[in-house]
Amino acid sequence: MLKPKKLAKKNFLSSFDMSTEEIEYIFEVSKNFKEKKLNFEFTNKVLGLIFDKSSTRTRVSFQVAMSRLGGTTIDLNPTTSQIGRGEPIKDTARVLSRYCDVLAIRTFNHADLEEYAKWSTKPVINALTDLEHPCQALADFLTIKEEFNDFKNVVLTFVGDGNNVANSLILCGALLGVEVRIACPKGYEPNEKVISKAREICKKKNLLQITHDPTTAVIGANVLYTDVWSSMGEEKQKEEKDKEFDGFTIDDNLIKKSNPDAIVLHCLPAYRSKEISDQVFESEKSRIFEQAENRMHAQQALLSCLLS
Ligand code: CP
Ligand code: NVA
Repeated sequence: MLKPKKLAKKNFLSSFDMSTEEIEYIFEVSKNFKEKKLNFEFTNKVLGLIFDKSSTRTRVSFQVAMSRLGGTTIDLNPTTSQIGRGEPIKDTARVLSRYCDVLAIRTFNHADLEEYAKWSTKPVINALTDLEHPCQALADFLTIKEEFNDFKNVVLTFVGDGNNVANSLILCGALLGVEVRIACPKGYEPNEKVISKAREICKKKNLLQITHDPTTAVIGANVLYTDVWSSMGEEKQKEEKDKEFDGFTIDDNLIKKSNPDAIVLHCLPAYRSKEISDQVFESEKSRIFEQAENRMHAQQALLSCLLS
């Protein structure tokens, strides 16, 4: 019988905060939660959600995951707390960690998340920053594992902006030994530190490619993945980015060049006819809603480990 296992690191701020074995263990626990074979109890435990940006999936999947574990959630945002009035993070973090048992934080600057983690005595989870979205990557690779059973011959091509989602896919992919290709317009490459960390993990194997040509990047790929062209906070750049990302839509033309067994993933929310065509989004290749569901199972597994 599986038991919740303490992770080596207190926080989950980056995909790189877990070892390969820990990620595989999270997948195992997630699968068991999904099949309703596990019943870990965390009665009276409280998850604090601090969300400086909008969210549907992350917020709700964390709330439901916590409720399935027998715990409760407090949902905070800058307007309902003193955070919006400029109370220092170090004060908020010290107070909230005296009430809550774990905190999940969605904010802009990754450094702010690190500041919370520095001052909180309880585990802090990255629920998305401008740098990473590690909870998303856990659900993504869980979905890929369900489809292909293992990661041995998986080639994942991400077509779009090399920011938070792409950065976490790169790190998690490197830890799992997956070939990851990022096809992005010039100037939208993933974070350099993320790239070097991933290359360091892969050592001799050249598992990471960054390219500006989506057409060649999808050849032989079994997973095609995309995200919005304009992320939260980039509303003013939308028009400019729409032009720069022209040609980076996952549509039938790109699908035809990928492997016949290819599946399509999208972290959501999606903008049809921008980063993905409606036809592909609604096609039998899409595993987008399985992926969204897996956010909940993976986070239930993550919470159970962090609370152990
Ligand atoms: N994918 C994702 O994080 O979705 P939300 O912004 O709705 O949480
Ligand atoms: N890159 C997107 C991801 C949304 C889940 C954003 O940051 O808005």
